[in-house]
Amino acid sequence: MSRSKITYQCQSCGYTAPKWLGKCPDCGAWDSFTEEERISRLKKGDTAEPILLSNVSHHSGIRYSTEIKELDRTLGGGVVPGSVVLIGGDPGIGKSTLLLQTLKGLTKTGRTLYVSAEESPEQIKIRAERLGVKSDEIVLLPETSLEGIISVAEDLKPKIIVVDSIQTIFSLELTSAPGSVSQIRECSTKLMFFAKKQGVPVFIIGHVTKEGAIAGPKVLEHIVDTVLYFEGDKGGPFRIIRAVKNRFGSTNEIGVFEMTELGLREVDNPSELFLSERPLNVSGSVVTASLEGTRPLLVEIQALTSVSNLGVPRRTTLGVDYNRVNLLVAVLDKRLGMHLGGMDVFVNVVGGLKIDETAVDMAIIAAMASSLKNKAIEPSRQE
Ligand code: TYD
Ligand code: MG
Repeated sequence: MSRSKITYQCQSCGYTAPKWLGKCPDCGAWDSFTEEERISRLKKGDTAEPILLSNVSHHSGIRYSTEIKELDRTLGGGVVPGSVVLIGGDPGIGKSTLLLQTLKGLTKTGRTLYVSAEESPEQIKIRAERLGVKSDEIVLLPETSLEGIISVAEDLKPKIIVVDSIQTIFSLELTSAPGSVSQIRECSTKLMFFAKKQGVPVFIIGHVTKEGAIAGPKVLEHIVDTVLYFEGDKGGPFRIIRAVKNRFGSTNEIGVFEMTELGLREVDNPSELFLSERPLNVSGSVVTASLEGTRPLLVEIQALTSVSNLGVPRRTTLGVDYNRVNLLVAVLDKRLGMHLGGMDVFVNVVGGLKIDETAVDMAIIAAMASSLKNKAIEPSRQE
């Protein structure tokens, strides 16, 4: 049976409606509906076969090493066959670089396929030369259609696939443009089916939009097995990879890299790096220990308080939660009589790290108090 069906979908949250709407009833966005046409063909044999639980074979325990320790740990001990890993990050942060280096490590597993819908093979070659990636096991495919990618992958039977990026590929079955919610959902779901059916791990690159979500709304993150965020201060050399969802390992595990002219270099002792430029005997700077996944890290928290000449004083935070800092400002005020009401307060975690752990509250309080009193905290008193 073949039929064509037109629906309308909100590009902001993915809500579908049978007719066009000016305002989305789900997320409240205006003018966000676009037309979607889907041609559905369900043939006999398209459905999955039921299978007895006792007859299911699986690849338990098998993991491929990327030869990048920081990445293997973040993945929960290597790449699981048949898993789909989404790597999200700002454009230009180093996602393509990281995955090319990852493929280099994975080539000992066998042939790998790098699908680039963004860059030409020449551009990738130039990058590979710079990174020292020389291998006969990396196949490049400059293709943007999902059906084309899957058909090549079925013939080539690669051991690993990288798709760069999900925003630039599209399925021929949909009429909407690449990067729209429905295309992203369709392409990632099909790649997921392919990965599970063939037992091939697929890495998907997704750019983070200005709202902070990978490839628009969260639809993509729900579909895949593992979500890694690649972040860092683009001006600085440090890059942090963080697992925010992992069906095969713990979350909040991080890996730390340094971007050099020869690509990404692993940082074995991040604490040393985060503290390397720490000023001594300066007020507002505190070193604290934070547990990131399984690894304790020493990080520097900096705070600056200064008299505000604005009606509503500024509160700026980098690397720690904004509302949490506001709460701690109120605690200082109410419990310790340190009035920050008319002061601008800036709090920063050095090295571009983001910390969720509430155990750093004490360090934030100490850094703000130190800045307010203009008194440096002695390192020996910091325990
Ligand atoms: P890229 O991997 O292209 O980023 P993304 O895929 O996330 O958009 O990396 C882009 C940046 O990395 C670019 O500004 C140049 C820098 N870079 C280096 O500093 N050293 C290198 O060896 C490479 C390959 C890139
Ligand atoms: Mg790229």
